[in-house]
Amino acid sequence: MKKTSTPNYVNLPSLALVIRCLFTGYLLTIGLGFFIAGGQVLLTHGMADGKVGLSVDDVVYSYYGNRNNSLLQAKLKGSMKDKAPPQVRTRLIKWAQNDAPEEQWETEIAPLFRHNCSQCHGVMPGLPDFNHYLDAKKVSGVNKGASVNALTRVSHIHIFSIGFIFFFMGIIFSLAVGIPRCIKIVCICLPFAALILDVLSWWLTKFHPNFAWLTIISGFSYCFVFMFMWCTSLYQMWISPRKKTYTSNEWQD
Ligand code: HEC
Repeated sequence: MKKTSTPNYVNLPSLALVIRCLFTGYLLTIGLGFFIAGGQVLLTHGMADGKVGLSVDDVVYSYYGNRNNSLLQAKLKGSMKDKAPPQVRTRLIKWAQNDAPEEQWETEIAPLFRHNCSQCHGVMPGLPDFNHYLDAKKVSGVNKGASVNALTRVSHIHIFSIGFIFFFMGIIFSLAVGIPRCIKIVCICLPFAALILDVLSWWLTKFHPNFAWLTIISGFSYCFVFMFMWCTSLYQMWISPRKKTYTSNEWQD
């Protein structure tokens, strides 16, 4: 293509090839990262409620937990249901609900595990060994969702890294042509607001499950804006310049 830009035309279609390559490399890389992050969310949080796909329940289980249900209880009502008669299951569940008191272990609880469960749990590697109190106690605890430690770690990583991603993406997108200024401002600012809301919503969901909706709404809104800015920027750098010359300076009001 013949060179058509002059230094005054500050917009995506008129950028020099070198800078378009730089922007494109960045966009393709974060695009890939975005794709992998999406897969990771589906694999971890998406499976939290035991079903494939992301739902509000997944978010609730991940952050709020499942307060009236221990793993032991869930299994005794689920895949381990046929392993013990009902009165044994009820007794074990009650023990778990009472916080797995150690004084009942030797006399009452250990024999139940031994008779019904130890032929597998204690033999098969990878399964909790129910000949030991601590293993039994571990699966008896209620599930309180994400810990404060885990949340703090994930929150600061998210805020810093996603903040950076949208900062550079916003710079690139700010050079787009033909997009009303108010829409541009919304696209550039909304991801930051949604990011803060997203992270905030994890903490709120830890205390009240209804806030899981906020996680879903804010998460989807910055995914949407991300895709819009990503596609528009790549299109304007590589397809638009072939059609006509754009003379605007997008960095001047
Ligand atoms: C025939 C073998 C067998 C017997 C008997 C058995 N289990 Fe299991 N258990 C398994 C297997 C295999 C898994 C892993 C698959 C799953 O989670 O369903 C498992 C998983 C579990 C888990 C989840 C462990 C984890 O860390 O995810 C719990 C809790 C559990 N069993 C409790 C029990 C209890 C309580 C009994 C006795 C009433 C029992 N099981 C009897 C084979 C057995």
